[in-house]
Amino acid sequence: MIPISKPVLGEEELKAVKEVLVSGYVVQGQKVEHFEKDFSDYIAVTHAIAVANGTIALDVALKAMGIEEGDEVIVPSFTFISTANSILFQGAKPVFADVDDKTFNISPNDVLEKLTDRTKAIIGVHLFGHPFDVNAIQEICEDHNLFLIEDGAQAHGAEYEGRKVGSFGLVGCFSFYATKNMTTGEGGMITTDSRDITKACGLLRNHGESQKYYHTSLGYNYRMTDIQAAIGLAQLKKLNGFNDERINHADYFNRHLNVEGLKLPHSKNGIKHVYHQYAVTIEEEEEGFPMSRTEFMMYLKNKGIGSAIHYPLPIHKQPLYQRLGYTDETVQCPVATALSQKILSLPVHPALTEKDLVFIAETINNLESE
Ligand SMILES: Cc1ncc(COP(=O)(O)O)c(C=O)c1O
Repeated sequence: MIPISKPVLGEEELKAVKEVLVSGYVVQGQKVEHFEKDFSDYIAVTHAIAVANGTIALDVALKAMGIEEGDEVIVPSFTFISTANSILFQGAKPVFADVDDKTFNISPNDVLEKLTDRTKAIIGVHLFGHPFDVNAIQEICEDHNLFLIEDGAQAHGAEYEGRKVGSFGLVGCFSFYATKNMTTGEGGMITTDSRDITKACGLLRNHGESQKYYHTSLGYNYRMTDIQAAIGLAQLKKLNGFNDERINHADYFNRHLNVEGLKLPHSKNGIKHVYHQYAVTIEEEEEGFPMSRTEFMMYLKNKGIGSAIHYPLPIHKQPLYQRLGYTDETVQCPVATALSQKILSLPVHPALTEKDLVFIAETINNLESE
């Protein structure tokens, strides 16, 4: 089976972990500091704060900027659940914006529709590795005095007008979950140029501790370990290579996939798309794709090719959010709703071989003759 995702871990990671284990210092220490330094240099920001996962990165970032009950934060409805949940964690209200039907990213026009006098921040998600429209969203933030949070969980190394994502907002948040463009198993990172945010995140991450056993504020244990950081350091060195592989694989599919009704991913000018996912849409009714998405997934599975739906529901339709009172009448996100019915991710990860690429493309192109 060709899996939909696969982490690439090798001798370098093994050696790095062994070194930490042999040292006996396995909790947050020098390796975490080193990883923070290298990651901040990579993104080109002054600070990076490592945490236990990407959900925590978002949670801590929103807490550090003082988002609280009564505030509204605009977030795309088409993303992974934790982007929106991080707003709920603050007792604040997620307000869902629709997405662009080509890039699947937050729609600046719809953000303008969703602003109120309670809006405090916008979370833009660089979904599937394609940067959102940073200039337009930044302009809205500046005009309305809002914080910008970049969710770069799927976009390590992606660029917008030559700059790495995670360097535009007041904060950038990253995940190092196993399927991401680089991994530490579980892990997360906050990037920022703000010293105040860095300090606040550091306190939140470690029990509000200002000196050993002196606690000045309410904090958590949200730390990353040196074991994870050692893996992260090795993976960061390989990240550009991993991204090049993903881009080459996507390019191969773009050149070879040719089935009526199968729409291939869009990449806007002026950006670097790092293809966390290669997400196609199946235009069954209008453009004659020969089978339903479920049948297509089954066809691929029977041929030994993994695929996945990211995401089968827009966030406002998730049972949790329906219970909170979000309905189709109160949330207008028609593009996100339609996308969830027709989107499908195909394997694009760096572990694919040339043989896999040829097989995947041929299997899909032969669909109609089956
Ligand atoms: C867009 C997005 N935001 C946030 C997260 C949360 O990251 P983690 O799984 O590390 O908590 C993910 C990870 O799946 C994600 O894809």
